[in-house]
Amino acid sequence: MSGADGTSYDVTPYLPGPRAGLPGLRRAAAECQGCPLYRDATRTVFGEGDAGARVMLVGEQPGDQEDRQGRPFVGPAGGVLERALADAGIDPGGAYVTNAVKHFKFTVQPGRKRRIHKAPSLREMTACRPWLVAELRVVAPEIVVALGATAGKALLGPDFRVTRDRGTLLPWPGPDGDDASGAKASEAGVRGLVATIHPSAVLRADDREAVYGGLVSDLELVARLIGS
Ligand code: URA
Ligand code: SF4
Repeated sequence: MSGADGTSYDVTPYLPGPRAGLPGLRRAAAECQGCPLYRDATRTVFGEGDAGARVMLVGEQPGDQEDRQGRPFVGPAGGVLERALADAGIDPGGAYVTNAVKHFKFTVQPGRKRRIHKAPSLREMTACRPWLVAELRVVAPEIVVALGATAGKALLGPDFRVTRDRGTLLPWPGPDGDDASGAKASEAGVRGLVATIHPSAVLRADDREAVYGGLVSDLELVARLIGS
């Protein structure tokens, strides 16, 4: 995919062979310079969890804390997510957690230190997608959970709308989906996708309890689907 400056965003030089497992993918992703986001971020934040997880949770991109610690969802949004999973009856230890984009994108106001989250562009999401597809291939979860609009668009395409599409089992894009690896994930047993809000939306909401309740109720559907 072409960048505005005419250069191309391409992760293929960094991808390991098709038989790489999670440790090999993680090592390879640590070296990724497939789009410009690696430059300002501290490190690649790869997914975490069991290769046999039945649920894969997909967020947007690492935040400030995740960038510092090198682990997904360890900051404030991660705290909300962990509580919501527990309240929905899903063992957080039994889920694989990752992001649509693996480097932190941020801006800094002049004279300030705080790094403010900035949403990744479609071009960056598209560039980073092969890492997510590779995680899907290896983990082959039964249910994929899209946390918020970025994850939903990365997985289902630009027509995804979180308010319209949340809280219901959506068909997984199968062999007719947008790439062959998606088809492989489908054959490996992905039953479908459940979308919900991003946990950070709870932290921004005026009515936190209501928004949190919506997150939990969407995750309860996931718990029912995996029979936990
Ligand atoms: N928000 C995300 O989408 N992912 C993280 O890992 C942390 C915050
Ligand atoms: Fe590579 Fe994704 Fe990081 Fe861009 S955001 S450098 S594609 S790992």
